[in-house]
Amino acid sequence: MNLLDGKLVAEKIKAEIATEVKTKMLDAGREAPHLAAILVGDDPASQTYVASKEKDCLEVGFISSVYRYPANITQDKLLESIRFLNADPEVDGFIVQLPLPKHLDEHTIIESIHPAKDVDGFHPVNVGRMVLNIPSYLPATPYGIVTLLEHYKIETEGKHCVVLGRSNIVGTPISILLSRKSKTGNATVTLCHSHTSDIKAIAASADILIVAMGKKGFVTADMVKKDAVVVDVGIHRIPAKETKSGYRLVGDVDFQEVAKKCSYITPVPGGVGPMTRVSLLLNTLKAAKKEIKF
Ligand code: GUN
Repeated sequence: MNLLDGKLVAEKIKAEIATEVKTKMLDAGREAPHLAAILVGDDPASQTYVASKEKDCLEVGFISSVYRYPANITQDKLLESIRFLNADPEVDGFIVQLPLPKHLDEHTIIESIHPAKDVDGFHPVNVGRMVLNIPSYLPATPYGIVTLLEHYKIETEGKHCVVLGRSNIVGTPISILLSRKSKTGNATVTLCHSHTSDIKAIAASADILIVAMGKKGFVTADMVKKDAVVVDVGIHRIPAKETKSGYRLVGDVDFQEVAKKCSYITPVPGGVGPMTRVSLLLNTLKAAKKEIKF
């Protein structure tokens, strides 16, 4: 078994981004890329994610800003904030941290982001472009996964890729990316979800298994073909006496057992997570360079 070391690959990409920002932008008298985040409410996980994004920006020399609003903000107020960021020439890209409180309509909010600043790649224009293989911002987790596979020279062409989970931000887009006609695509993809019958047998037929179910330890060794490549998108906190924080992180895959059987596997933490984070930086860099035309 080999580790797909997302932490290592993300550090390498961050170093490359930092060099580009310094030499091509700051030293040339240009502004650094600027990523903004809108954070509504006080969900602890969302606060942690946004803090990580700020830290990542600092590390590569980006400007970051966070717009914080109370959980009871009205939809109109939030839309006004988005219009402000859409129009702000100093902000290259921004994200609205999800999930949003129930009274806010997520689709309306996302559709109000200008596609050119939608560095999450969640706007229907970016999703549509991705489906059609037109340059677009790719959602960060799927983008991070294909970058990781590419880094380890794991061929997807002609392979059977099985994706477990059909969320809008991971399962659905990764299934599209892997099946597209492209360097990191050309795979035969099976997308499994809660209504799939015999998910175990389908998973066990995968050359590349992408697991994004949100179910702790769901994938056991009997669901994995010998020498398969396993990508674990899951992230769960479990109590642990041995750590200072009192918890540790595990994924959707039974790592100990599956690792013995597969050829490559992502650890949790240190696999997909860091690749997701660096992908947002890559999208922001593209936004600052106006690389994608809208
Ligand atoms: N919540 C969980 N993941 C994400 C993400 O990638 N982007 C945003 N905006 N919210 C999230």
